[in-house]
Amino acid sequence: MSTQAPGRAAVLAGLGASLPVKVLDNHEITSRLDTSDEWIRTRTGIAERRVSGPGESTVDLAVAAGRRALASAGLAGSEAVDAVVLATSTADQLCPASAPQVASRLGLDGVAAFDLNAVCSGFVYALATGGGLIAGGVARRVLVIGADTFTSLVDPEDRTTVPIFGDGAGAVVLRAGLPDEPGAFGPFDLHSEGELAELLWVEAGGSKHRNSADPRDHYLVMQGTAVFRHACARMAESSRAVLEQAGWMVGDVDRFVGHQANIRILQSTAKQLGLPVDAVVANIQRVGNTSAASIPLALADACADGTLESGHRVLLSAFGAGLTWGSTLLRWPDVVPG
Ligand code: UT7
Repeated sequence: MSTQAPGRAAVLAGLGASLPVKVLDNHEITSRLDTSDEWIRTRTGIAERRVSGPGESTVDLAVAAGRRALASAGLAGSEAVDAVVLATSTADQLCPASAPQVASRLGLDGVAAFDLNAVCSGFVYALATGGGLIAGGVARRVLVIGADTFTSLVDPEDRTTVPIFGDGAGAVVLRAGLPDEPGAFGPFDLHSEGELAELLWVEAGGSKHRNSADPRDHYLVMQGTAVFRHACARMAESSRAVLEQAGWMVGDVDRFVGHQANIRILQSTAKQLGLPVDAVVANIQRVGNTSAASIPLALADACADGTLESGHRVLLSAFGAGLTWGSTLLRWPDVVPG
């Protein structure tokens, strides 16, 4: 699915992030699994990631990131936004959704609030959904949060997933605006391919296989090489689609903020697109793969350290389990992370 922004666009008005306190570095992992710091760094680009502890569930992290995004937008009070869209595949409970709890804890009681599960592509899907609420006149402002705690899904004995995943949350405030103003998101390009769900999934615990006797069925299983190949191809394809819709040339892109799954995926996608390596925004070294939180965390970090400057033309592209993938664009606005 591809969309061109209609008359009313969703404009980035605030940005915030939150990470758990506990840092898990490669050396701690190598002390208990058959791997090495060198393998993890060279094959993934990751040196450390954050792991949630008590008081740092998906809802807790989402609340902290959301609070910072609201402060960054200069908004307070129960009418700060009309809706909360939480992109996550690790909600606090299987049922209900976590977004209403996030909204209540932010003092936004009564607003529309729902979860959206497109796994690592969730934030881009949620931007499109929040933008749709604004374009349709349903909401004037929307808080879009990407939050995940994948360390709750990884098998502590699995050296193929433990080094990769970390926990975190990032959030943006969207406000109604015009498609040609700085910060306006769009067009969007969103896709899925459910036949390949088994490449990256947790088999049991849902309605189909409720309780498997094998505890490994309740953990995340990833066919890494196949996922890697699809991620590079799909993010490049989707990026080209939004560039074409927007009438941007590859050379117009100042910064490429892709899903932080593996530094080699980001570099390979950039190369396929013909983007210079210094256009790639990466914070994966410090946070690992944080699933739906990955792009907003990278945006918040890059904005805070000056990698993203007002006026930069920014390409966002995500890929995740499902399979799902999608891309969007914006000109970076004058925003200070909360
Ligand atoms: O969030 C969205 C989805 N996730 C992703 O996009 C992740 C995509 N996949 C990847 O990032 C990469 O496939 C991995 C980092 C997971 C794996 O890297 P790879 O270059 O694809 O390695 P591989 O799976 O082909 O394994 C190469 C070798 C194998 O050994 P042999 O068969 O060549 O002897 C593995 O057993 O590396 C071995 N290996 C490891 N060695 C040390 C696999 N994991 C490890 C490890 N430490 N942690």
